[in-house]
Amino acid sequence: MSNTKHKAFPEHFLWGGSTSAYQVEGAWNEGGKGPSVQDVKQLPEGTSDFKVAADHYHHYQEDVALMAEMGFKSYRFSIAWTRIVPDGDGAINEEGIQFYQNLIDELLKHQIEPVVTVYHFDLPAALEEKGGWDNRETIDAFVRYCDILFDRFGDKVKYWQTINEQNMMILSGAAIGTGSDSMQKTYQQNHHMLVAQAKAMKHCHDKLAEAKIGPAPNISITYPKTNKPEDIQAAQCFNALRNWLYLDMAVYGRYNHQAWAILEANDALPTFEPGDEEVLKAGKADFIAFNYYTSGTVEAYPVGEATTDEKTADQQKGQGIPGFFRQVPHGDLEKTEFGWEIDPIGLRITANEIYSRYALPLMITENGLGGRDTFTEDGKVHDDYRIHYLREHIEQMQLAISDGVELFGYHPWSAIDLISTHEGFRKRYGFIYVNRSDFDLKDLSRIRKDSFYWYKDVIASNGENL
Ligand code: BG6
Repeated sequence: MSNTKHKAFPEHFLWGGSTSAYQVEGAWNEGGKGPSVQDVKQLPEGTSDFKVAADHYHHYQEDVALMAEMGFKSYRFSIAWTRIVPDGDGAINEEGIQFYQNLIDELLKHQIEPVVTVYHFDLPAALEEKGGWDNRETIDAFVRYCDILFDRFGDKVKYWQTINEQNMMILSGAAIGTGSDSMQKTYQQNHHMLVAQAKAMKHCHDKLAEAKIGPAPNISITYPKTNKPEDIQAAQCFNALRNWLYLDMAVYGRYNHQAWAILEANDALPTFEPGDEEVLKAGKADFIAFNYYTSGTVEAYPVGEATTDEKTADQQKGQGIPGFFRQVPHGDLEKTEFGWEIDPIGLRITANEIYSRYALPLMITENGLGGRDTFTEDGKVHDDYRIHYLREHIEQMQLAISDGVELFGYHPWSAIDLISTHEGFRKRYGFIYVNRSDFDLKDLSRIRKDSFYWYKDVIASNGENL
């Protein structure tokens, strides 16, 4: 039990919710949009595709009205690169620009601050065909795309995030539909994304004096399985590779030394082109947005020993590098019905750790519970398990603030039901239920879940009524 003196949430705390374009919008081939890697990827059998999703593209006004009813102060969403530049690096699609102008105007009409992620797992398929992030030309395409966003939306959008969960794209490409089979290639792609991000942050600052920009990785503290020094060292290594590599780069413009050593030992060092070092140094984050669902646990992984952990294409499980670490179940934590461990205190620990290392303001851009919600006969969705999860995380967030962490926003995943990265529509996260199943689109109507009313009260009381 914590003895910390509770501090209230700051007066202008950004209470909101989060989504991403390809998981919520649908209209995958409408309005001049080009296909993204998510539209063309092979999905696991029995999983719905992203073509209709929550059909937010056609329902955005209704959806924003519901967010306003909940009292959202901010809404974190992503822009689909393929709506703005359908083939990634060619002509601008004015219809796509117009869609986001309309969405942003609708938000502002309701005094909801737009928080924009530039790129959330949905690289244009046309760029992937040209090598994707293996190809350095993708860096230029990304920076040009960002420039278009800054030019067109910069007068209305203050908060920008570069790349959603770059670390998960690199570590768990199989779950997300990104990455490569070779570790060296994967970390070369990573390097190109880091260069692209640094350039985009610099361009943002050059163009928009008032804007704030930062990365949006998934940051979770990793625990050692025991207090044996070998396990503690393993946890330090996984934290370096999973978490600090991305934040050291976004804040200090350099590779984390331990992460670098792990890459070196695995013949996976990225090649620098002349000028990369200066570019990386010049890109500076103004704040850190991070996604947190759960913590992780690792143990030492002696070379030559077979792994005991399940091999899985799930972004929260199954990581291991012989000689460094292997991920194992925590053992004492409860799990969601989709097998993700639940660790609210881990959020406080993570927030404190980030703030101690980087001393920048923090914003939580994802946190939530995926479950198979049931639309009951009384016309409701009784998602008390979600309320319980969010309440416990908000309590820990408040404790982190009381510890002195500068935390200025919270955006649970997800504002509204949408399609999971690899578990289809059956794994729901929203405050708003969308009436469809994996393969039956039904009427796509919107239904307020119990968590909707609960969160509305949380926001109205600025976090007092949990
Ligand atoms: C994060 C992503 O990894 O977690 C989201 O940024 C994703 O896109 C969310 O949906 C939850 O993961 P999942 O696999 O349950 O959809």
